[in-house]
Amino acid sequence: MVVEKDALLEMVHLKDYRESKFFIDKTELCFDLGDAFTVVTSKLHIRRNPKTAACMTSPLVLDGSLDLDLVSISINAIPLSETAYMVEEGRLVILKPSEQFVLQTVVNIKPQDNTALIGLYRSREMFCSQCEAEGFRHITYYLDRPDVMSKFFTKIIADKKKYPVMLSNGNPTSYVELGDGTHSITWHDPFPKPSYLFALVAGKLSCVEDRFVTLSGRGVLLQIYVEEKDLGKCDHAMSSLKKSMEWDETNYGREYDLDIFMIVAVDDFNMGAMENKGLNIFNTSAVLADPKITTDASFQNIEAIVAHEYFHNWSGNRVTCRDWFQLSLKEGFTVFRDAQFSADMNSPAVKRIQDVSFLRAHQFTEDAGTMSHSVQPDSYLEINNFYTVTIYEKGAEIVGMLHTLLGAEHFRSATDLYFGRHDGQAVTINDFVRAMEDVSGIDLEQFMLWYKQAGTPVVSVTSEYSENSQRFMLTFQQSCPDSPGQLNKKPLLVPIRLGLLNSNGEPFGLNAVGDHEIIFQLSDKKQSVAFKNISSKPTPALLRGFSAPIKLNYQYSNEELALLAAKDTDEFVRWDACQQLAFRALREPSNILGTDTCSQAKALLTTYEKLLSEENIDPALVGLMLQLPGESRLHDKKNGVDPDAIHRRRESLRTFLAGKLRVKLEAVYHAHKSHQTYKPVSSQIGLRTLKNAVLEYLMYTEVGVELAWQQFKESDNMTDQSFAFRCLVDCSRSGNYARMATEQFECQWKHEALAMNIWFQIQSACVQKNTLARVEKLLKHPLFNIRNPNKVRSVIGSFCSSNLINFHEANGAGYDFLENHIKMLNEINPQIGARLVVPLTRWRQYIAPHSRLMRRALQRLSELPNLSKDISEIVLKSL
Ligand code: TRP
Ligand code: ZN
Repeated sequence: MVVEKDALLEMVHLKDYRESKFFIDKTELCFDLGDAFTVVTSKLHIRRNPKTAACMTSPLVLDGSLDLDLVSISINAIPLSETAYMVEEGRLVILKPSEQFVLQTVVNIKPQDNTALIGLYRSREMFCSQCEAEGFRHITYYLDRPDVMSKFFTKIIADKKKYPVMLSNGNPTSYVELGDGTHSITWHDPFPKPSYLFALVAGKLSCVEDRFVTLSGRGVLLQIYVEEKDLGKCDHAMSSLKKSMEWDETNYGREYDLDIFMIVAVDDFNMGAMENKGLNIFNTSAVLADPKITTDASFQNIEAIVAHEYFHNWSGNRVTCRDWFQLSLKEGFTVFRDAQFSADMNSPAVKRIQDVSFLRAHQFTEDAGTMSHSVQPDSYLEINNFYTVTIYEKGAEIVGMLHTLLGAEHFRSATDLYFGRHDGQAVTINDFVRAMEDVSGIDLEQFMLWYKQAGTPVVSVTSEYSENSQRFMLTFQQSCPDSPGQLNKKPLLVPIRLGLLNSNGEPFGLNAVGDHEIIFQLSDKKQSVAFKNISSKPTPALLRGFSAPIKLNYQYSNEELALLAAKDTDEFVRWDACQQLAFRALREPSNILGTDTCSQAKALLTTYEKLLSEENIDPALVGLMLQLPGESRLHDKKNGVDPDAIHRRRESLRTFLAGKLRVKLEAVYHAHKSHQTYKPVSSQIGLRTLKNAVLEYLMYTEVGVELAWQQFKESDNMTDQSFAFRCLVDCSRSGNYARMATEQFECQWKHEALAMNIWFQIQSACVQKNTLARVEKLLKHPLFNIRNPNKVRSVIGSFCSSNLINFHEANGAGYDFLENHIKMLNEINPQIGARLVVPLTRWRQYIAPHSRLMRRALQRLSELPNLSKDISEIVLKSL
């Protein structure tokens, strides 16, 4: 393929990494924000890297882009002659730079035309920026790489009425009213930083303020900037921020380092949030919260994202990445940190189950597909495509395994060593692991393979019990499937937390000191471990806490799974036992459901019956255990996926379970209705999780619609209201109620953009027939805007990745729909387009005609003349 060759030429390889030949000690920027264009003046204090001085004659190549309109250029205040520089493919080349000099450039840019939301752009009436990973080059010419760190001075000039608030990194140093209706402010960030952490915001913003006193007694001003109408929705983010600051001091010894910490909420944002130094920029969906329009899940998500971005101040900003192959150095570690924080703030078991569930649904799928890559990849075409679940979530799992292997105390000493040793530096994943080795004395060479090898390892376990010798032996065998460019992988070091239960669910002592649990370190391809004095055949509880990101197979009997579900001490194992029973039931042909032969469904039913009568169990856990594996988990097969059959089976199983459990479910539903004032705290969240899980089943019985309608009308919070709304919309028997709920919801919330995202999303995910027509109608709704990523995700994203039954309609209409919208997004916002195209890339997994039609859509996309790098990388790798 012709395009492929061109594309491959631009591949970036880790092995090609070279230190920068130049440094920028100081960066002075001036932004004159205008309606027609913005003038960016940059003064870069440049110096040759003494280490690379051998190439004294090499030119200076600054990153830039075609968006930059160069107005003037000078060195040491003397304008450059036209023969002294070139602009080539967006880059600026200074042909004979001296040892040390000041380069001044003036460029014009047009933020108002920037729909990609990368670099400086406008979101409604405000200016804002997004520079990670390579956005800064869309603002001015620069060495736009994370290992070039510089002290930034940023002056902003703008109309005072339209842009009363003007923010950048660090501390404000001087403010001037310029008389002509404009004003200017200068910001200084004392910490050298890479350009990807630069930020600028200007607009009519209001702010909520608070204060935090650090461990060493320094006062920090905390500000959250939002549109005036949203001032009342900042409390949750603010308290999350204060909790995060305190938590990082207590648990990692990390203090905040500037006098101000600012968060700004913007409507148009490609991702969740961004950790710019001292000036975090957030998607409104990741900051604003109010019980009436925010679900429990969003409350928790906001808390986690606020923490995540805050934690980056150390894991990412103070110690940053040498190059983008090290992305997981900051992301994996920071996700691990925010997960620890969320576990501490809420229920650790629930958090762990949610994370594993997410990892299996998304990362395992990614790793089984054509975009499979290692946590430290060797190459990439478009860095924006590498902000993946593998870099983030698998990266976090790897850090979690280090925590397990070292133990909490050594782990903490290792992070102290890492932060101390590398403060102010741009480093690698190897540096991180080296700190772990230095503190613990553990040789982590084999462990490093977790970063280098892609794919989900499979560990198959068999057991042998001898009654005579009272010996129980477990044999583990590991393998890892081939992935693009990686064959014949080596065995990994896999920590497996395990225990053994007797038939009453009581634990056996596993060693001389009688421990009930051990961490078995699997390092060979095949390895066994034996336990003595085991008086009866035990049930092994394997991979407690999901101690490694693997697929583990063990031939449990249904009785053993039931025992684990009921009795294990580890909540993850209990939940996972239910999942395994559910998978078995879902594989059973649906026409035997309800007859005597459906032994798998019956085993699940028995477990659920027990679960619903259990006392002293966390309702949240029951709620999670009642949830069947998502439809997408059932699509997770190499080939032969039949979306229709899968959907039907899952529906039948739910109908079966609901029919059998109806009386109990109804009782549980009514017993868990809360009369307390809504609070997003885990005790209440647990009750709502259970109540709503039960309601979802009851929708398959006659009482469901009435209950859902009552809940929809009476609830005072978005969790219950939107859940009831979803139930009504998805239910085949809800008749007029679904329509009424849709209208009422819209009427009630049409002025709240975030609530309307839920409205769009639930309708687009509706499993009833003809949803595509409904989606087409939603796209014409006055509140839909294809330039707003949240809206695109709520409608197009929701339809194509959550609504599997409709997206995979056999006539291919869903695929064509996605193809057409990818074409539009290719022009508007390629980063978002690239994320949306992923469901099509799984074409190989599906039966005909799906596979052929999906592939055809991809093929047509690949033939587009102006296909962006973002989208073409994903499309081409999948064909
Ligand atoms: N560093 C950000 C985070 O972890 C990720 C991010 C936000 C991002 N916006 C982006 C990455 C835009 C690429 C492009 O939270
Ligand atoms: Zn991050």
